[in-house]
Amino acid sequence: MRYAWLPMLKKPVPDTLQRPLDAAKFEARQIADPVCFALEPALGEGYRIEKAGDGYTVAGGETGVLYGAYALIRALSCGEALPEGVQRPYYPLRMINCWDNMDGSIERGYAGRSLWFEGDAFHYDPARIRQLGRMLASVGINVLCVNNVNVHWPAQQLIGDLLPDLAAFAGILRPFGVRLMVSVDFSMPLQCGLDTADPLDSRVQAWWKQRADAVYAAVPDLAGFLVKADSEHRPGPNAYGRDHAQGANMLARALAPHGGALVWRAFVYNCLQDWRDHSVDRPCAAYETYMPLDGSFDDNVILQIKNGPYDFQVREPESPLFFGLRHTPMGLEFQLAQEYTGQQIDLYAMPPLWREVTDAIGKDTVRAIAAVSNLGRDENWFGHPFAALNLFAFGLFAWDPDGDPAALIRCWARMTYALTADQEAALTDLLLGSRAVYERYTAPLGLCWMVRPDKHYGPSPYGYEFQAWGTYNRADRDAVGVDRSGRGTGYACQYPPELAERYADPEKCPENLLLFFHRLPYGFVMRDGRTLIQRIYDDHFEGAQQAEAMARTLEALELPEPDRSEAARRMEKQLINAREWRDVINTFFHRFSGAADEKGRVIYP
Ligand code: GCU
Repeated sequence: MRYAWLPMLKKPVPDTLQRPLDAAKFEARQIADPVCFALEPALGEGYRIEKAGDGYTVAGGETGVLYGAYALIRALSCGEALPEGVQRPYYPLRMINCWDNMDGSIERGYAGRSLWFEGDAFHYDPARIRQLGRMLASVGINVLCVNNVNVHWPAQQLIGDLLPDLAAFAGILRPFGVRLMVSVDFSMPLQCGLDTADPLDSRVQAWWKQRADAVYAAVPDLAGFLVKADSEHRPGPNAYGRDHAQGANMLARALAPHGGALVWRAFVYNCLQDWRDHSVDRPCAAYETYMPLDGSFDDNVILQIKNGPYDFQVREPESPLFFGLRHTPMGLEFQLAQEYTGQQIDLYAMPPLWREVTDAIGKDTVRAIAAVSNLGRDENWFGHPFAALNLFAFGLFAWDPDGDPAALIRCWARMTYALTADQEAALTDLLLGSRAVYERYTAPLGLCWMVRPDKHYGPSPYGYEFQAWGTYNRADRDAVGVDRSGRGTGYACQYPPELAERYADPEKCPENLLLFFHRLPYGFVMRDGRTLIQRIYDDHFEGAQQAEAMARTLEALELPEPDRSEAARRMEKQLINAREWRDVINTFFHRFSGAADEKGRVIYP
């Protein structure tokens, strides 16, 4: 049999499916051999697949049987062995955060408009939403947060007047085991007649309790609320002199009787910084805010922390909170939407990143895993046909973080295209290496924020330099970077001693983070004997060259249309982008340093 992940979604799903077992039976029709299902509620999301005569038995809890059906399809179509014994997801909460606005736009969306909002209302094709549910279930994603963390009017009404619409939407995804979450606005009581949103005010507490009761009456299986508070001008408890535990717990207590989770984002920093002030260092902010609160969050709060201390940059160290917090339930947040990583034009396969992060922090440090969605209304859902890989692999990674990145990529390639063995290997290698190439031509050595402000695509080494966002490279004629050791901003000291010591010493610091942690002169000698400035030049030249090689590999793949043309069209733009990064960054540093390229390549004056 041949099962293709996205093309599969072109076959309509009937609107009569009520529960995951129905969906499992529907999917089983794709399998040539007979499949029996046995409900074992105790298995929950888990399942067990057994060969039975000339067919298979899939046993599992209500959602487990559906996951089992997809695992069976995957194993058969990838020619892999059936998973042995009971399979359970490693993380109970496997979520995508959709930054969809009710006007139909998507914050940092690169695949078209929202699949479910338009004109300040729910507006969607139910058949497509069923396909969405199916797509998410097929890789084990079980929660979808429906609206942007920046809650713009009228999204507040998702837990007010729009509850019937929210309930109808939840009903479409329910047979696929996908529950909804809603981003809420901390100041909502103020918009509903109260004169405060102070979390310690009993009227505010009662207001949220009553809201939560109403929400759960409409959507009994809602996964919970997601909150961005006191971050980038969003309201929060600080306005009332309250801390984030007080704010989060107040909401968590309204949700607790209904079994809901309160996901509180740790993306908190001063976005009104003065670039002249070297004493404030943005990466320090989250740790300073949350470490003193360790142990004060209620059990149903999850502190959702971005993988790095900045903001989904091409390369960042892991957030020190993952090492520091001991008594706070944590969730890990990635961004599938390629905001800083090529915007679904440039290739950037993420599985190697996720694996690096969970290996570094320890996969059991967090109990939930979330990713900002890369979906949209484009015909192919993702803009770039290969960007589908990142959602596909994210779901499977959240289920099993021990998954090998190369195997995840190969599985996606096999389930998407009918390729020869050579082509499959070439596509897998192309994607597996794509992150390193992107990093090399944009931001090698951990130097962040040289990207064009606001849009975040293309180079602009001075773009963020004098802005209020706390994002500075401080390049001058002698040196570049920020000293984040104990002699500098002290950020490195937020890590446990062994790691802190490694990061703080330029001789021991991993080279791909060197300019994240250090301010170094252009003549600094790297471990392989090259000077820093030569390494900057080399990386940008080599990265752009590798992008050209990727284009040739892509061409030779002979993908089916329309993917072939779409990928080729985007690759042309990627090459323009790679050359632009190479030339702008090299010229920028050449003008400052005056250093010639040892290899005599063209650096524009
Ligand atoms: C980034 C992004 C914003 C987003 C924010 C967040 O800063 O550029 O658009 O709102 O992250 O994660 O909340």
